[in-house]
Amino acid sequence: MSKPLNVVILAAGKGTRMKSDLPKVLHPLAGRPLLSHVLAAADSLRPQRICVVYGHGGELLPQAIARGDLAWARQEPQLGTGHAVQQAMPHLDETGICLILYGDVPLTRPETLQEMTLIAREGAVALLTVRLDNPAGYGRIVRNGRGQVERIVEHKDASPEELAIDEVNTGILCLPAGKLAGWLARLGNDNAQGEYYLTDVIAMAVAEGEKIIPCHPAAEWEVLGVNSRQQLARLERLHQQNLAESLMVQGVTLIDPARLDVRGQLECGRDVLIDVGCIFEGNVKLGDNVKVGAHCVIKDAELSAGAEVLPFCHIDGARIGADARVGPYARLRPGTELDAETHIGNFVELKNSQVGFNSKVNHLSYVGDATVGRKVNIGAGTITCNYDGANKHRTVIEDEAFIGSDTQLVAPVTVGRGATLGAGTTLTQDAPPGVLTLSRARQVTVPGWQRPVKKK
Ligand code: UD1
Ligand code: CA
Repeated sequence: MSKPLNVVILAAGKGTRMKSDLPKVLHPLAGRPLLSHVLAAADSLRPQRICVVYGHGGELLPQAIARGDLAWARQEPQLGTGHAVQQAMPHLDETGICLILYGDVPLTRPETLQEMTLIAREGAVALLTVRLDNPAGYGRIVRNGRGQVERIVEHKDASPEELAIDEVNTGILCLPAGKLAGWLARLGNDNAQGEYYLTDVIAMAVAEGEKIIPCHPAAEWEVLGVNSRQQLARLERLHQQNLAESLMVQGVTLIDPARLDVRGQLECGRDVLIDVGCIFEGNVKLGDNVKVGAHCVIKDAELSAGAEVLPFCHIDGARIGADARVGPYARLRPGTELDAETHIGNFVELKNSQVGFNSKVNHLSYVGDATVGRKVNIGAGTITCNYDGANKHRTVIEDEAFIGSDTQLVAPVTVGRGATLGAGTTLTQDAPPGVLTLSRARQVTVPGWQRPVKKK
């Protein structure tokens, strides 16, 4: 049995530069909190225990994340990163190893962390470092004449020679938990910031003859943190670029990979095409040969093979059948189910409605709480009056019915199979199958009528 993994996520800091009432780690990246990204990376390592150190924002953090399997350690006041990890120690299994992550560093790849856990399991200290063109602000990695890591010096405590070092501490490290506990207990705060620095454990480890093994991320974005809204926006773009890359590798055509936003899970079949400016939220599945036009927002939806969504559609909680065509400017709300080869046109809103094979709602209609059969044609301006001010009622339109334009269907009401409704009908009783039903005042022509003229 290998040593159990404990993950500690530091998230007590204030995030002053965000200028926000929301704790920094709850700010969303790709639609979910920064902290959720860090938790996902931690989860992928199958740790025995995850402990989040929190402080600023009070109980907002544990409330927002609401996960019963996490340990929460409150750090109050915040006396530094070493002090923060100390608060987590009572929750950890000291026979195992401990990986320390930051709640505001969301994009670290699991592979990088995995490599670090292997080193710690061998008894050494794995330290994630990176060389930066501009190392200002970061702790510097001080190596000895043989190139071995000796200690970390914080920017504010560094000498001019040390400030010239471009290898910096990312803050992420992995080490045997028992040894960490011992070192933390001996930390002092005699430094420029009067804080208990986690980074001081490196010199302690070296003094005890422990091996420090530096690890490096595959790309710089893995270790970038969020301190400001600008950095948040920059990481969002980097993350979206990575998602777009992987979609293209899978065979998806993106007209412009820089103009795509995925805020959830997007699963694509073969030869999917996505035009510019689309946002995908929640769980979206696009079947083979699906085409999504420009500027669509698609959330929690499944589109079957060959379906096409024309530009400017808003789709939420809908299923779209094979070879169906939706839009431009259509809105599909939760509970919409379109069968194969249906056509939904411009300025049409559907909600909680099933539309059968090859039926068409092409223009300016509201169809809510309706069951529409096969090969039905719903004319322009049709409205299901589904709400009486208190309750919702269903409209049933059977196969091959033809609904004339500008019709109101006052639910509950049924249009029989093959029935035709004349244009302008206000249907308040069921329409029998196979015949024409219409409600319309008779047209009259008034002979001799004259337009009024303006008085002189
Ligand atoms: C820390 C490192 C520095 C490294 C840098 C990388 C130390 C002493 N320094 O510096 O070597 O280059 O990160 O970004 O560790 N936090 C708490 N409680 C505290 C203080 C911090 O939970 O009392 C959390 C913060 O919320 C944040 C993380 O720890 O997620 C880092 O804190 P921050 O103040 O940004 O550390 P730096 O001083 O930038
Ligand atoms: Ca920082």
